[in-house]
Amino acid sequence: MLAKIKHLAETLNPRLIEIRRHLHAHPELSGQEYQTAAYVAGVLSSCGLQVKEEVGKTGVIGQLPGTGKDPRIIALRTDMDALPIQEKTHLEYASSKAGVMHACGHDVHTTVGLGVAMLLSQLPEAELGKVRFLFQPAEEIAQGASWMIKDGAMQDVQAIFGMHVFPSIPARSVGIRYGSLTAAADDLEICIQGESGHGARPHEAIDAIWIAAQIMTTLQQAISRTQNPLRPLVLTIGQISGGRAPNVIADSCRMTGTVRSLHPETHANLPRWIEGIVANICQTYQAKYEINYRRGVPSVQNDTNLTKILEEASRESWDKEQVQILTEPSLGAEDFSLYLEQAPGSMFRLGVGRSGVENYPLHHPQFQVDESCIITGVVTLSYALYKYFQQNL
Ligand code: NI
Repeated sequence: MLAKIKHLAETLNPRLIEIRRHLHAHPELSGQEYQTAAYVAGVLSSCGLQVKEEVGKTGVIGQLPGTGKDPRIIALRTDMDALPIQEKTHLEYASSKAGVMHACGHDVHTTVGLGVAMLLSQLPEAELGKVRFLFQPAEEIAQGASWMIKDGAMQDVQAIFGMHVFPSIPARSVGIRYGSLTAAADDLEICIQGESGHGARPHEAIDAIWIAAQIMTTLQQAISRTQNPLRPLVLTIGQISGGRAPNVIADSCRMTGTVRSLHPETHANLPRWIEGIVANICQTYQAKYEINYRRGVPSVQNDTNLTKILEEASRESWDKEQVQILTEPSLGAEDFSLYLEQAPGSMFRLGVGRSGVENYPLHHPQFQVDESCIITGVVTLSYALYKYFQQNL
């Protein structure tokens, strides 16, 4: 079966490169993936899948009906949106839209999803269950997955796979990760209310800026003294504002930031832990405070059995050095984690690094991929899906 999958992928490859270049040249921002969705729906219909459009606003679902013997449904999620970045690659198929670019490789994701759908639809003799392809919008604003789920995309799904391109892994390679892959990312806003006064008479005022500084410093120190160092936690205050004049003590100060964590217990306790520190400092200096803690996406926790399927599929498909077992997660965020609240799943990193040139990071205006990554993604996922249906999970 693997030889057949590899052969089909080789045959499809020129068409897939064409698709990817088309998508790259026509990027669309989060929630506005109208052309992309129509294009995806067209390709899916042409290979005989049952297609549903406008799932999660601009999302598309295609389902392979399976042979009927296996009732299980397994999903493959790929995201479709681009970023508000002006492309600076000078590729002949560079973005045709000013200020919009596929700088996160979602054009590759969409192409790989389509490639797997095209390939599996040509394997009628394989004993496959149903494969549901989720073409998700708005991943970059961490909204699309919840839109898709709300519209029933995960209904009756037993397991889900996903992947993301990764420029620091060479093309033709994959990075498999057991356990946590990405972090939980929450938004934090802290507003301090003090009392204004003359800059020369601090004892008659409550200095909101200085109190905010105490809070910021204490939060960073408290991470090192009160949080388990084996459970990563990053708190970044990215914005601070307060005060009106150099000689007037500020009566208010507002800070906003992002909080990244990996361990579910750390994540669960964050609002209480932050409020404890803020409340204590504000009480000491008689200030008032308000905290808005907004839960973002949770951490992607890969399921062991499904990760094993990905690893086995990769090991059988590729040479030893092409399969990396990743020892470290990232503190980036990924809304794939929301699907994992509905069913177990696993997401891997698809190497796209080009050899002999500088590889720019994701979200960079000069980000580029080695297009041989497409066939690697298509074979790995097609074979992993095939293997899933051979097992009794
Ligand atoms: Ni991305």
